[in-house]
Amino acid sequence: MPTVKEILNTMEYGPAPEADSPVREWLEHHRDGFRHYIGGAFVQSSEGGTFRVMNPARDEPLANVAEGTTRDIDAAVSAATSAFPAWSTLPGHARARYLYAIARHIQKRERFLSVLETLDNGKPIRETRDIDIPLVARHFYHHAGWAELIETDIPDHGPVGVCGQIIPWNFPLLMLAWKIAPALAAGNTVVLKPAEYTPLTALAFAEICSEVGLPPGVVNIVTGDGATGAALVAHAGVSKIAFTGSTEVGRIIRKATAGSGKKLSLELGGKSPFIVFEDADLDGAVEGVVDAIFFNQGQVCCAGSRLLIQEGISDRFLDKLRRRMATLRVGDPLDKSIDMGAIVDPAQLARIESLVQQGVTEGGTLWQSDCELPARGSFYPPSVFVNAEPASTIAEVEIFGPVAVAMTFRTPEEAVQLANNTRFGLAASVWSENIDLALDTASQIKAGVLWINSTNLFDAAAGFGGYRESGFGREGGREGLLEYLVPMIEKSLLPAAPRTVAKLDASPHGGLKTAKLPEIDRTAKLYIGGKQARPDGGYSWTVTAPDGTALGEAGIGNRKDIRNAVETAVKAKGWSGQAGHNRAQVLYFMAENLSARAGEFADRLRSSGHSGEAAANEVEATIRRIFYYAAWADKFDGRVHATRSRHLTIGLHEPFGVIGLVCPDEAPLLGMISLILPAIAMGNRVVVVPSPVQPLSATDFYQVLDTSDVPGGVVSIVTGARAELAKTLADHDEVDALWYAAPRSEWAAVELASAGNLKPVWTLEGDRTDWHATTTGQGPRFLRHATQLKTIWVPYGE
Ligand code: NAI
Repeated sequence: MPTVKEILNTMEYGPAPEADSPVREWLEHHRDGFRHYIGGAFVQSSEGGTFRVMNPARDEPLANVAEGTTRDIDAAVSAATSAFPAWSTLPGHARARYLYAIARHIQKRERFLSVLETLDNGKPIRETRDIDIPLVARHFYHHAGWAELIETDIPDHGPVGVCGQIIPWNFPLLMLAWKIAPALAAGNTVVLKPAEYTPLTALAFAEICSEVGLPPGVVNIVTGDGATGAALVAHAGVSKIAFTGSTEVGRIIRKATAGSGKKLSLELGGKSPFIVFEDADLDGAVEGVVDAIFFNQGQVCCAGSRLLIQEGISDRFLDKLRRRMATLRVGDPLDKSIDMGAIVDPAQLARIESLVQQGVTEGGTLWQSDCELPARGSFYPPSVFVNAEPASTIAEVEIFGPVAVAMTFRTPEEAVQLANNTRFGLAASVWSENIDLALDTASQIKAGVLWINSTNLFDAAAGFGGYRESGFGREGGREGLLEYLVPMIEKSLLPAAPRTVAKLDASPHGGLKTAKLPEIDRTAKLYIGGKQARPDGGYSWTVTAPDGTALGEAGIGNRKDIRNAVETAVKAKGWSGQAGHNRAQVLYFMAENLSARAGEFADRLRSSGHSGEAAANEVEATIRRIFYYAAWADKFDGRVHATRSRHLTIGLHEPFGVIGLVCPDEAPLLGMISLILPAIAMGNRVVVVPSPVQPLSATDFYQVLDTSDVPGGVVSIVTGARAELAKTLADHDEVDALWYAAPRSEWAAVELASAGNLKPVWTLEGDRTDWHATTTGQGPRFLRHATQLKTIWVPYGE
């Protein structure tokens, strides 16, 4: 044992291990293997299969766990289905009591759960004890509050049903809390599948559910691997899937659920920028990097893995960073003075090693701390590539380990450009002492979470989730809760009406008897970038009234027309930057111009089969709808969230960018306007595919757009075959979101095609929606689908 004098000379840390005996005893008690938690009981796998769970820090087995089969998933979904009627109709206050009890029990077991998480995952006890588990308790407390408040604060909403939840291994119990707490608060029942590397805290949580007397079947936990997850995703009894994990599996799940009507939220990967301006507090920023990329060994979806450093300070900053990295201690995660623990599994370690090797082969300069690594277990040293090329593999791909990739930039514009040069959009950190610069940069970065002079901050009250291929949907706060609720009106749709199917026949007169044809005065063109345009293919079809009378010709748009329209929409981004007030002025002007032509529009509707009264009503309702969204243009505010003290945590509603709108056949004018207006009021630019049954009201609308100062490219209209055009929109990487207001039978194809860039698709049963009713045809839910939440954390104080 060293003497005090020797210790003072070397300043070496001694070992400070956290006791693990209570957890070891618990594991010993379960020596025969852990079982699934289904219907309030612990049950074996239907086929008796098990798999081994390892402690990655020591390379030793911890436990055997049941391998979930399709039958196990069936049993769990059936238990959740049986529990749903009673749980969903409990008064919110009763659900609040259960959630509160869970929070209290977690707190009572905080040390136990921290040690168990550390043994199972390999992350340092410092993190499980100080971050993961306290946040787990916080989530249940916060959502106990929501259970109490939903009825009054989010009225006219109900639970979705049985929710399938699939979580990863990097924050095992925290991800469980993020999913189960809001689901239960909202009155849903759940089947959760933990990650195969780290199922143990979920099973300890199951014991807590039993202890607090949670009704059987409200929470079910089925352990297993990807195949078990896939069975859960595929199950017809599940109404919602919530997934956190790799973008690759997110894409598989998007495809697997296409057309099923299941609600979906995806929290996927990232390659988040960490921007250091030359006026930043460099020592603070270095500590920021430590938290950004060495926290949890870099196995964090929102890890600040791309360091963008302003050129003038780059050398100095990297020197400081290397010096700090050299002091990080990697080792036994149960040691309280360890900074970095183990990588979750040898397979993940091998993945990190291979990506780093690729970085070196591609010419990157790697610097690694020469810290001592334990002889046993999966460990990796803190690493940084100091001169990465923006287009290199390591700068683009999620390494998911303690490996930062540094690049330089000269100007703030270049910083934003580099930051957005990724297919992901989960998070970003911006470091500058100039608050104007920091916030201006934050506003331009396409990411769901922005941290100013800070990083990796999370809280139950603030939404977390991504833009682009980092997924969609939010966890935490009101937005997170809404993922587990459905507006009651979506549950009370009209019965499906018999459909008219438009035939786009481009042969002369569409095969109609010429004798019956009245004079056709003009062929409506497409409307692209503020100008009328001939369809690329040069074809049009004859639009007919229900009695077969020809009404006019409409252009048959194709892929190229859609691409042209998207290109003009991308360029029209000035619209997104306008103040809501300015957009409202344009919208009001649109209403005024429509009003001036109300007679013409009513005539058009009459000619297509509306009665005189119905036609006049639809035009009038359309004018009112424009007023409604003009009113909202400057009122759909974000919030300041009550997270932690001395932080302004701001939830901003940002437009998606370019939205594809596929319009319903019903109410040809009003239905289309009910989609266009909320989208553009929030600052999006739209490419509209009108109903092919009655497209002429849409093409007449060009004139209103032309005369209302709507900038070119903000609204483009492409007529033609709906399914084909919609698929092109769904496929297109520069279309950020898609609304599809057409019958359910058509959903699968667009949802499948959307998996490319993982754009959110809002499917509305256009044919079963009463577009005239103010309850169903308009409302804040349209605005919510027109915006994505950006959460900006701004700490203050010295
Ligand atoms: P993964 O995405 O395969 O696993 C996450 C969860 O999905 C696990 O519970 C897994 O069993 C389940 N799963 C796998 N295939 C499934 C399927 N077809 N259907 C339904 N569920 C399925 O991630 P993995 O393989 O553990 O890690 C690979 C890479 O993914 C990591 O290196 C990292 O880059 C990324 N990743 C990102 C995470 C994040 O939080 N964004 C978390 C975990 C991994």
